[in-house]
Amino acid sequence: MRGRGSAPGKIILLGEHAVVYGRPAIAVPISDVRASAIVQPGRRGAGIVIHALDIGRHYLLDAAPPTDPIACVIREVLTRCEIAPSLDLDITISSEIPIASGMGSGAAVATAVVRALFAAFGCPVDNATISEIVYQSETLLHGTPSGIDNTVVAYERPIWFVRGTPPTPFHVGGRFHLLIADTGVPSPTRLTVGDVRAAWERDRERYEALFDEIGALVASAREALQRGDTVQLGMLMQRNHTLLRQIGVSADVNDRLVEAALDAGAYGAKLSGGGRGGNVIALVDEAQREVVAQALQSAGAVRLLSTTLIPEEPQP
Ligand code: PMV
Repeated sequence: MRGRGSAPGKIILLGEHAVVYGRPAIAVPISDVRASAIVQPGRRGAGIVIHALDIGRHYLLDAAPPTDPIACVIREVLTRCEIAPSLDLDITISSEIPIASGMGSGAAVATAVVRALFAAFGCPVDNATISEIVYQSETLLHGTPSGIDNTVVAYERPIWFVRGTPPTPFHVGGRFHLLIADTGVPSPTRLTVGDVRAAWERDRERYEALFDEIGALVASAREALQRGDTVQLGMLMQRNHTLLRQIGVSADVNDRLVEAALDAGAYGAKLSGGGRGGNVIALVDEAQREVVAQALQSAGAVRLLSTTLIPEEPQP
């Protein structure tokens, strides 16, 4: 009984903050950083043991509290595959995805475990089911999560998301190269979301107009992604960053990295996620990737990741 599974990180491409007010957002997978899980037979009589390598924790499924998100998905898969929990299994988990930085590491780890278990039990599963199981673990971590992370990570495709409606994966029509630069400034999303709420309470008309403009550009961005139109997508990202500044969630550190990426030839760049620190993303040409990466580093990025969105091969 052996199985392996892996899952990517994620980043919000456009639409953060406005999404809280009912406008659409687009999130994309970061396939170059992944979480992985391996399931293999364990020591006889030892039960199901979880080895979480990154946090140096080794614990028994039986001893895990009901609030443990990994234990939650393991129990769910055992039930769905009708497997007795008296099994002896080692489940080893590792992840390259930075934690607590809006990159969906919790959802990716849970997805990797779910995939590895279904593979080990020889039980067929589709992405919708994986996403649904992982959503349960997300509620333990985040209360009432939007469903973005589990969907983008389980499908490993860009998703279109509007609060209160099921997130929908879609295909891109060309290759899009993205750089993800960590400003090194921790960004507690809760704070910026709270500040935006207070500002919206003070001047609803202005904020609703800003959110409307973001909603409209996110819709245009989906079309640009589907057409493979990098130039248009870059312009829309740029405009989204300007609007995020007007909303009040950018900071000098974000603006500095955005400027550096643009000066080095990026098609567009913007903050991603909560803002006031956190990550900046840049859309680049393959040939320009190194130059922009160096510019971001010189401007103070403490970590750089890169990923490419690719069109899926048509099924024969
Ligand atoms: O950085 P993340 O993935 O936590 O994104 C935050 C996105 C916000 O729109 C700012 C908040 C939210 O709950 O949608």
